[in-house]
Amino acid sequence: MTVSMNDRPLLEVRNLAVGYEARGTWPFGTRTVKAVEGVSFDIRPGETLGLVGESGSGKSTTGRAILRLLPVLEGSIRFDGQDLSDWGKQTPLSYRKQVQAVFQDPSASLNPRQLVSHAIEMTLRRHGVTKRSELHERSLAAFEMVGLSGDHLGRFPNELSGGQQQRVAIARALVLEPRLVVCDEAVSALDLSTQSQIINLLSDLQQLTGVSYLFIAHDLGVVRHIAHRVGVMNHGSLVELAETEELFASPKNAYTQRLLDATPAAHPAGREERRAHRLASRTAPAA
Ligand SMILES: Nc1ncnc2c1ncn2[C@@H]1O[C@H](COP(=O)(O)OP(=O)(O)OP(=O)(O)O)[C@@H](O)[C@H]1O
Ligand SMILES: [Mg+2]
Repeated sequence: MTVSMNDRPLLEVRNLAVGYEARGTWPFGTRTVKAVEGVSFDIRPGETLGLVGESGSGKSTTGRAILRLLPVLEGSIRFDGQDLSDWGKQTPLSYRKQVQAVFQDPSASLNPRQLVSHAIEMTLRRHGVTKRSELHERSLAAFEMVGLSGDHLGRFPNELSGGQQQRVAIARALVLEPRLVVCDEAVSALDLSTQSQIINLLSDLQQLTGVSYLFIAHDLGVVRHIAHRVGVMNHGSLVELAETEELFASPKNAYTQRLLDATPAAHPAGREERRAHRLASRTAPAA
């Protein structure tokens, strides 16, 4: 699926601030510490926006606010034109259906005592599917979509490999045909070859369904492979946002440059070019 610049954004994040309650010292009660501030970006239909940055830079916090797991302190998040703050503390089932998540550790999100079919069926039941035959057919279709078979449906999580468990998590996220999936370090726990299988799977499923991804990862090489555009976070701010190839070839922000330089796998050739360019501009006479 091609992403058009003219498409109306599916998700619009404007000047977002999100934080956590911190215990103050007596006599002060709790106070809120902002972990993310002034963050703005869009995600278009069928687009993958990568979000990178060092540990603690606020990537997951941003994702959690979009998933409504954390309240918005300032700014706004609009999904399909709707401001999420209009709902107060409630989250309509239709939003839960349209915006799904895949996290790092699939085994933590699967109940070890239940067959994996149960995880998919529970998701369908929560959204009003009750007929046994439909539950089975849709679970099987979701499993086949992620490269698993009916045989895998009847297994317990510990009878699957890590990669297969992550496929179950992706099947569960996609079974309701969402429009946006927040993938927070979704391949980080997998070995390299499984990582690339899952990345290719996510790309194929995007082509097939037109789903958008917010793809959060610390691994720049992985993000470069999957994202159409990339945002770089540093200390709770979005310091740069650009088309993927442009960002890796000629990062504008000094922090992005340092981040790329510290990651040889991200783009060794570009790194050498940038270093040469910086040296040249340092030694060149002022114009
Ligand atoms: N539950 C929490 N309570 C208090 N502070 C938190 C909580 N979760 C995260 N933080 C703080 O918020 C900031 C941003 O954390 P966040 O988890 O968003 O980072 P991240 O970019 O996802 O990092 P990583 O790459 O390690 O996953 C950090 O300073 C972190 O310590
Ligand atoms: Mg994180």
